[in-house]
Amino acid sequence: MICSKQIAHLRAQIKQWRVEGAIIAFVPTMGNLHAGHLQLISAAKEQADQVVVSVFVNPTQFNDPNDFTNYPRTEQADSEKLQSLAVDLLYMPATEEMYPAKSLTTVSVAEVTNYHCGAARPGHFDGVATVVSKLFNIVQPDKAFFGEKDFQQLQVIRTMTADLNSPVEIIAVPTQREVDGLAMSSRNSLLTEQQRQQAIQLYQTLCLAKEAILARQASFAEIEHTSMQSLSAQGFRPDYFSVCRRCDLQTAGKKDTRLIILVAASLGVTRLIDNIQLDL
Ligand code: PAF
Repeated sequence: MICSKQIAHLRAQIKQWRVEGAIIAFVPTMGNLHAGHLQLISAAKEQADQVVVSVFVNPTQFNDPNDFTNYPRTEQADSEKLQSLAVDLLYMPATEEMYPAKSLTTVSVAEVTNYHCGAARPGHFDGVATVVSKLFNIVQPDKAFFGEKDFQQLQVIRTMTADLNSPVEIIAVPTQREVDGLAMSSRNSLLTEQQRQQAIQLYQTLCLAKEAILARQASFAEIEHTSMQSLSAQGFRPDYFSVCRRCDLQTAGKKDTRLIILVAASLGVTRLIDNIQLDL
């Protein structure tokens, strides 16, 4: 596996692959790699000749400085995992490489960022859109792979690439779950043992809400309200629990059929997000 810290070094390698006519896949990550990331990498390997993975804890997408400080960093273990998966190139830039002293440009996507995590974490999606568009410019992949766990992020990136006429094909990969249903996330490693047990309830609450909607037991608003109350009663600090249209993540109405339920809730200092899709 080639390890690159400098843009020039990475570009020289990519240029050679391009001359050889290779299809290049890209999996951007913030490290602390888990089976969810490995699933993205395995999808990337199936669909491309060369796979590039980046590991960069992006400071501009953290609205809370403590969250940035506490974010798990496991660079050595990440590098070993990627090596064992026969990833072709690991890009691990320093912060100064990604954000030179005078960076005056921010990429900001409107509307789809107004709600849910966008409302709860001001500036978060500007940070994501900016770093992903920089990474796309640096790597210039044919395809990039993102997990559906961060569904709003996926919509932001899809919107950004469409609006900016980016040639990168965005490929969504279903959420990977632990055997008890908890969505895999780098943040799970921050949970205490007791919180880890409680965390199961997040997905269970989503499943119950999905069943209630499919059985038309109550209105979407009532189901959202009951689910928020249930999460609070189970020790979470719920941020939102929203039944949305899958296409634009706006509040779902009676006539909408392609739905997604989005949830964010904290346990102690750890903020967890998850979602479940359903078709009526
Ligand atoms: O999903 C993530 O890990 C990050 O938001 C991403 C896409 C790598 C940008 O920093």
